[in-house]
Amino acid sequence: MSTEYEHLSREELIAQLKRRDSQTPYGLVWERKGISPDKSLNRDFVGLEPDPALSCGAAPWRNLIIEGDNYDALRNLVSTHAGEVKLIYIDPPYNTGRKDFVYNDSFFDSTNRYRHSTWLEFMYQRLRLAKDLLAKDGVIFVSIDDNELFNLGLLMNKVFGESNHIANVIWQKVYSPKNTAVHFSDDHEYVLVYAANRDIWRPNPLPRSAEQDKAYKNPDNDPRGLWTSGDLAARNYYGEGRYPITCPTGRVIDGPPAGSYWRVSRRKFDELDMDNRIWWGKEGNNTPRLKRFLSDVKQGVVPQTLWTYDAVGHTQDAKKQLNEILPKERNDDVFSTPKPLQLMDRILRLATKPGDLVLDFFAGSGTLAQAILQLNKEDGGERRFILVSSTEATQDEPDKNLCRDVCAARVSRAAEGYVSAKGEPVEGLGGGFAYARAKHIPSHRLVERLDDGLVWSFIQMKHHHPLTERAALASVSVWDGQALIYLPTTTAKMKAALRAALQAHPQAIVYTWTPAALASLVNENNLREVPADLTRGFRFGKLGGEQA
Ligand SMILES: C[S@@+](CC[C@H](N)C(=O)[O-])C[C@H]1O[C@@H](n2cnc3c(N)ncnc32)[C@H](O)[C@@H]1O
Repeated sequence: MSTEYEHLSREELIAQLKRRDSQTPYGLVWERKGISPDKSLNRDFVGLEPDPALSCGAAPWRNLIIEGDNYDALRNLVSTHAGEVKLIYIDPPYNTGRKDFVYNDSFFDSTNRYRHSTWLEFMYQRLRLAKDLLAKDGVIFVSIDDNELFNLGLLMNKVFGESNHIANVIWQKVYSPKNTAVHFSDDHEYVLVYAANRDIWRPNPLPRSAEQDKAYKNPDNDPRGLWTSGDLAARNYYGEGRYPITCPTGRVIDGPPAGSYWRVSRRKFDELDMDNRIWWGKEGNNTPRLKRFLSDVKQGVVPQTLWTYDAVGHTQDAKKQLNEILPKERNDDVFSTPKPLQLMDRILRLATKPGDLVLDFFAGSGTLAQAILQLNKEDGGERRFILVSSTEATQDEPDKNLCRDVCAARVSRAAEGYVSAKGEPVEGLGGGFAYARAKHIPSHRLVERLDDGLVWSFIQMKHHHPLTERAALASVSVWDGQALIYLPTTTAKMKAALRAALQAHPQAIVYTWTPAALASLVNENNLREVPADLTRGFRFGKLGGEQA
């Protein structure tokens, strides 16, 4: 219990209460003071320590899987990729009360009095970092169910702005109703969509489905291809829209049905008929209809907010897809809440172009990455991903590593190919990723030597180079016409390696711990100091932070 009011007199307390009553804010508030502080909120520097043995495919790696708490990973990413991410998809813990949420190293359940506030604080800290990562024309999709739907909606309004709300999509997640439900069978959940800026972001049209094209046929072998026919009469008043029409068989139709009008004038009708765009039925005796060719309709369709399982899969599909690529060893699922690949595919088609960077910082089993590799293979695109997944280790299971054993394992198998649960070989989709661990370094220790792999990954991330393994001497990365060099020390051997690298790349930017020692070798404008030049702009974190 707080003691900050105890010294106040009765009058002072009444005055404070009156002031508070008159200032009741509109919007979302949560009990920040009551909850136990999130241990992952810290003021440390965070670097990424690559683990080449767990990385997939040959370097350079354009994709990245980060093992660790996403608060750490996001702070790291904000200092290298602010404003760069075109699509963020997240599927956070839903706070079901059924132990789906690790908080301060143990599962969080429904008995906790502050469970909504804790969840809100947890999400708020992460979403406001995520916002800084979104490109101006970027968009975020967030999966959620009834447990936190309304809280999440208000939180998203707070972080991204109500004016940037795009849609609350309904995903029909089950294919058969639960007839044992006491009240309602819970058949759907939601995907909330917010743009960084609603005036700028636009969805890509979705490809037309076979179902939508089913109505198009070609009974008269029209050389213009498939067509469907539409009513020629409408109820809207049209001054030139009433006249008799003679069918090819000679039957005369006095006019459109009572209260309606032909949509076109007589002159236009005759033009359309001459151009074989009027359909009189097989016998040439029906009320005329207007032919509409498939080649004239928009190739894509506008996305709708209701996503049914036949179009985007259901939860059983998702489990099957995961078990197929990562067979379960025992009866337990390898991961209990994956999303279907089709759902991820729908979001990717709507919100990405082939070169875009996509982020999922609650990656779980890595479904989104598999869907990205699949779509890249299909359209030849080079969408890149950054996934963040926790180990889910708890005090009870300290060695658990979901990120390594499920997420990275699944994405590696998708990229490189695998033998399915049925024993059939499945071809790899191509692509790969670097695997790295988010590592804390207290800021006062930054001036000491950092792990060279961590420094090298930070340098490359900061300059948007794909990641490579560091070399024993001078590490060199060349990407998009820019060369980077990292020299961990300035021994004679190191300097010789630097000279050789500079011969190939005279304009390279050189990172070093001791710029003065390289002044004779490198142009001053190209020298950067570790750690200062590297950590500039890093967010050292805020504890508690403001709420309103
Ligand atoms: C609902 S699952 C995501 C499932 C994923 N969409 C899929 O298709 O597999 C949520 C994931 O977020 C992870 N998670 C929870 N808190 C996290 C945190 N602070 N940092 C990183 N990951 C976290 C959990 O371990 C869990 O795997």
